[in-house]
Amino acid sequence: MAAMSAGIIERYAAHLPVTAATPRVTLGEGSTPLVRSSRIGPSVGLEQLYFKYEGLNPSGSFKDRGMAVATAKALEAGAQTLLCASTGNTSASASAYAACCGLRAVVVVPAGGVATGKLAQALAYGATVVTVKSSFDAALKLVRQLADQPGVALVNSVNPFRIEGQKTGAFEIVEQLGRAPAQLFIPVGNGGNITAYWRGFGELVMTAGGSAPRMHGAQAEGAAPLVRGRPVTRPRTVASAIRIGNPASWAGAVAARDESGGTIEAVSDAEIMAAHRRLAREEGLLVEPASAAGVALLLRKAKARQVTDEGTVVCVLTGHGLKDPQALTRGLRIPRPVAPTLATLRRAIG
Ligand code: F0G
Repeated sequence: MAAMSAGIIERYAAHLPVTAATPRVTLGEGSTPLVRSSRIGPSVGLEQLYFKYEGLNPSGSFKDRGMAVATAKALEAGAQTLLCASTGNTSASASAYAACCGLRAVVVVPAGGVATGKLAQALAYGATVVTVKSSFDAALKLVRQLADQPGVALVNSVNPFRIEGQKTGAFEIVEQLGRAPAQLFIPVGNGGNITAYWRGFGELVMTAGGSAPRMHGAQAEGAAPLVRGRPVTRPRTVASAIRIGNPASWAGAVAARDESGGTIEAVSDAEIMAAHRRLAREEGLLVEPASAAGVALLLRKAKARQVTDEGTVVCVLTGHGLKDPQALTRGLRIPRPVAPTLATLRRAIG
């Protein structure tokens, strides 16, 4: 009998660098819903807009796909420690997978640069958390120098098994739609995920025929090295997950853009927060700010008639909204308590 919620290694073993000896590490990652847009799509003339809701992975982000494979390969190689630098989600994911496999997790994050929910996750899963007075880029440079220690597996997306696991997001979209979409919108930070999706679509198209989507990557205006063509020393954006100035997968991201005939563009924090709010209020989809960047880019392109209703469009929603409660409550007023009488209740409801 098939496992109830087989993870991505079990489901896609034939397409992954695993053997019968590779442990089937899983927390039930993958199999996330592809939700048809009910209001945002129609409002800009797109009847076939879908959201791949990756926030529903076990630790609340797409990182779990790659982390399942990276952890399995680390176990297979005899590692005892998972090590990463992170803007938050990679650290939460590594901590969760280390916990389920009896490994140690050491996560290095930029001080003050990680959303509260993510930091809370890493601590709760029992990781050793180090906050450094630096950017993510400097933290990644540091941990890369520790990666050759015996028993240590570096699980940032410079680890090729991470990219391999994350390409299964593309496989699922093709299964769910019955074909590849015409266009894909995805936020870009370190560049690993857009690289992974492009590989996933490429492998399917090569084996099954058909065409791959145009890949549209969204960076935040204050952290847009790929758009500017050079690293950004002090990246700034409300979307802390993609506050990255020198992406490790620079070449992979650019190749995804160029080979697919797509774009990588910058969106402002105001556009990101507007898309973030619309996803919650018009779709019932709670995401963290970085995850709204792709939707912000789509909205701009749809308004400019650069994207029209000629095929299916998918936006990848990379992380859950509850990870960043500050972003959710920005500009909102928490209602004051009222007396428990019918009259005051009626007044409060309005
Ligand atoms: N969206 C979210 C929610 C993320 O956490 C990240 C990256 C991205 C998008 C961008 O993906 O880096 O593959 O281009 N977060 C990393 C981390 C850097 O440490 O959690 P990317």
